[in-house]
Amino acid sequence: MNKGLVPSLFSQKIEGSKTLAVTARVAELRQQGRDIIDLGAGEPDFNTPEPACAAAKAAIDAGFTKYTPNPGILELREEIANYLAGYGAEYSPREILVSNGAKQSIYNALLAVCNPGDEVLLPTPYWTSYPQQIAMAGAQTVYMPATQEMGFKITARQLAEAITEKTRLIIFNSPSNPTGAVYSRAEMDAIAEVIRDSGIGVISDEIYLELIYGTDDYASFCAYPDLKDQVLIVNGVSKSHAMTGWRIGYLAGPENVIKAAAKVQSHSTSGAASISQKAALAALRIPAEDMQEQKDEFSRRRETVFSLLSSIPSVDVSMPGGAFYIFPDISAYFGRSDGSFTIANSVDFATYILEKAGVAIVPGEAFGAPDNIRISYANSMENLEKAMAGMKAALSELR
Ligand SMILES: Cc1ncc(COP(=O)(O)O)c(C=O)c1O
Repeated sequence: MNKGLVPSLFSQKIEGSKTLAVTARVAELRQQGRDIIDLGAGEPDFNTPEPACAAAKAAIDAGFTKYTPNPGILELREEIANYLAGYGAEYSPREILVSNGAKQSIYNALLAVCNPGDEVLLPTPYWTSYPQQIAMAGAQTVYMPATQEMGFKITARQLAEAITEKTRLIIFNSPSNPTGAVYSRAEMDAIAEVIRDSGIGVISDEIYLELIYGTDDYASFCAYPDLKDQVLIVNGVSKSHAMTGWRIGYLAGPENVIKAAAKVQSHSTSGAASISQKAALAALRIPAEDMQEQKDEFSRRRETVFSLLSSIPSVDVSMPGGAFYIFPDISAYFGRSDGSFTIANSVDFATYILEKAGVAIVPGEAFGAPDNIRISYANSMENLEKAMAGMKAALSELR
């Protein structure tokens, strides 16, 4: 009898990716020779900027291929401090921990701060990894609905009412994955006030901060220096610089928490890849103007996809303010059928669109929003137009 290798209670608490079924089916259909447009991916379709690639090649040639300090190379942490200062917060390199992607930064932060049974507030829809990571840290997720009518944003009052003695922190994510919602400066001010008054902590996941379109009315949590002791900033180069595969993210916050998070990291992964850190350093030094073209292209696609989706009957779509996702409510299609397949939920909806139109999207179940679907517009304009036309045609067959 095998008593050793059975899944632990800990691992049994964790849910696998809800999007995996779609991903697996995409691979299967492609293998059968079908042309699939993948609007499921959470990554920019652009190439990593040339200066980042050049810095990585130079790092290899210079033999910069050994262990680096656990918290990250000093010059990268200095450059990150520089970047954060641009948003209003003074961080020293000792208050910054570089990790293998922002996902690890969030996990490190949760492990560094949460005690068993602590409550972590989570605006819903949420990025799919947050509740799993909260569970992995032994804490409890308290979901806070942020419906489409609310612009997918919680209110300060709602936050104040959700806070209990057990609340350790809130995970805040603006712009949001999956909704693309961006909090205005006034909305942030109101939320910051509740955080100040209540004393709870914030993990502010700002991974999409550089991808906000057509407005200056937003803020980073760096803009509240008086809250510095209560705020952990998460960011990285994955989304801003099309560097998802390089795996560089970071956490900035009070030194004692950064030290605790660094301890966690030192025994799990150690410092991030040396070559990637050099590439991230070069990426952060690229002037914002040089990234503008990519941002403008995302903005054009956002408008095109929004208007094409708006022309599909019974799809309730709101214009996102940032990131590269759009998150329409498609629940009006639940119960409809093309004669052979009946759509009962958003997973069925995504399956139907994949099989019929050859377009991969992510069902809202993955984000705690079962009436919606997430469409990524990190794809070429040509593919996006083709995909929206295919979706429209497929949906017109449903009665
Ligand atoms: C909201 C959010 N946070 C964090 C991450 C993780 O970023 P990274 O690839 O740097 O780990 C993602 C990636 O999808 C994301 O969407």
